[in-house]
Amino acid sequence: MNLEIDRNRLTEEIEELAGISDAEPPAITRIVFSLADLRARAWLIARCEKAGLAIRQDPVGNIFARWAGVEPNAAAVGTGAHIDAIPNAGKYDGVVGVLGGLEAIRALQRCGARPKHSIELLLFTSEEPTRFGIGCLGSRLLSGTMTPDAARKLTDKDGASLEEVRRKAGYSAPLEEVKLPSGYYKAFVELHIEQGPLLEQQKVPLGVVTSIAAPASFRITVEGAGGHAGAVLMPERRDALCAAAELILAIENAARSSGAVDTVATVGICDVFPGAVNSIPSRVRLTLDIRDTDLARRDAAMRAIETARETIAAKRQVAISEELVNADAPALCAPEIVEALSQACAKHGLASMKMVSRAYHDSLFMSRIAPVAMLFIPCRNGYSHRPDEYASPEDIARGALVLAETLASLAG
Ligand code: GLV
Ligand code: MN
Ligand code: MN
Repeated sequence: MNLEIDRNRLTEEIEELAGISDAEPPAITRIVFSLADLRARAWLIARCEKAGLAIRQDPVGNIFARWAGVEPNAAAVGTGAHIDAIPNAGKYDGVVGVLGGLEAIRALQRCGARPKHSIELLLFTSEEPTRFGIGCLGSRLLSGTMTPDAARKLTDKDGASLEEVRRKAGYSAPLEEVKLPSGYYKAFVELHIEQGPLLEQQKVPLGVVTSIAAPASFRITVEGAGGHAGAVLMPERRDALCAAAELILAIENAARSSGAVDTVATVGICDVFPGAVNSIPSRVRLTLDIRDTDLARRDAAMRAIETARETIAAKRQVAISEELVNADAPALCAPEIVEALSQACAKHGLASMKMVSRAYHDSLFMSRIAPVAMLFIPCRNGYSHRPDEYASPEDIARGALVLAETLASLAG
């Protein structure tokens, strides 16, 4: 099999997709079911159809593009990622896995032989939590990790429900139809930029992921007392923002003092009400994102934050409530898929190293219903979730090549 990746076309497609965005270049913003996301989906579907793939879309907007195998009823081999992008993001996160996956399939088609098992490219809906506050919405529903009832309760910041938003986007069948039957996938492999610096630092072109860290997230509300910024004297204050500031530092401290660098915690949103120069903040809404490669250590950090929350609330006479959004277990990649990826690297004379994914991915949830593993390529300085995220065309093409080789070996 003479596998060849069309690097120029892949690079051009990444650039073209980057042009469908709601941010000033080089930044990318593509929030799920926004006009930009819908245009990007249509663009991708046209490309998949041009490659002769059969398209199916499920009620939450996950898109399946299938190259039917010789045994079309046998379990498929899946690959794919997401094209939604957080505000002010880069152009490679998720996209490399989707367009690299498409190019891997096209490279296999060019070789002439049809695989025994179908190969399916998947575009997951809302891997990013921006709109509905929870990441990996599509794969949570596909895998049955989230129930349709829980999904129906989701709303965006303008109060629009997932139900309304998906219907407006043209997806109206019941969410009950999203969950995949067991055994649907024989294997699932996701190509992604590393989003960390290790491959670049160690000058290794490819990373084979053996596990994915456990994410959790919360919505926190601090309620104090508002009032006039000149008239209310300091001893009388119950400033919600000052309490939130203390809590944010306690969160940072809980992660820093967990005993391992693998514990990370981030407050990424801080919404101050009423948000006026001369008004004491009466309410603050925060988000907390906390992760670790070790579940027990992450949960211990969560308990330390809980204690800090109670102490700060009592000391500052404010109410601090929290709502758990998600607390997921880590994923262990399947040894046979890890081996298939490592072998594919070796077959093409490419060095690889085993590594942990600290970011979450749809593979975390696909691992609940299928054997999975991931392939990482380097990204400059490890930057991701920022406009200067960059992966070279050579690295992307190498990733697509190894992905194609792996899909071929898994699909038979
Ligand atoms: C995915 O985007 C993550 O936040 O890990
Ligand atoms: Mn991301
Ligand atoms: Mn991603």
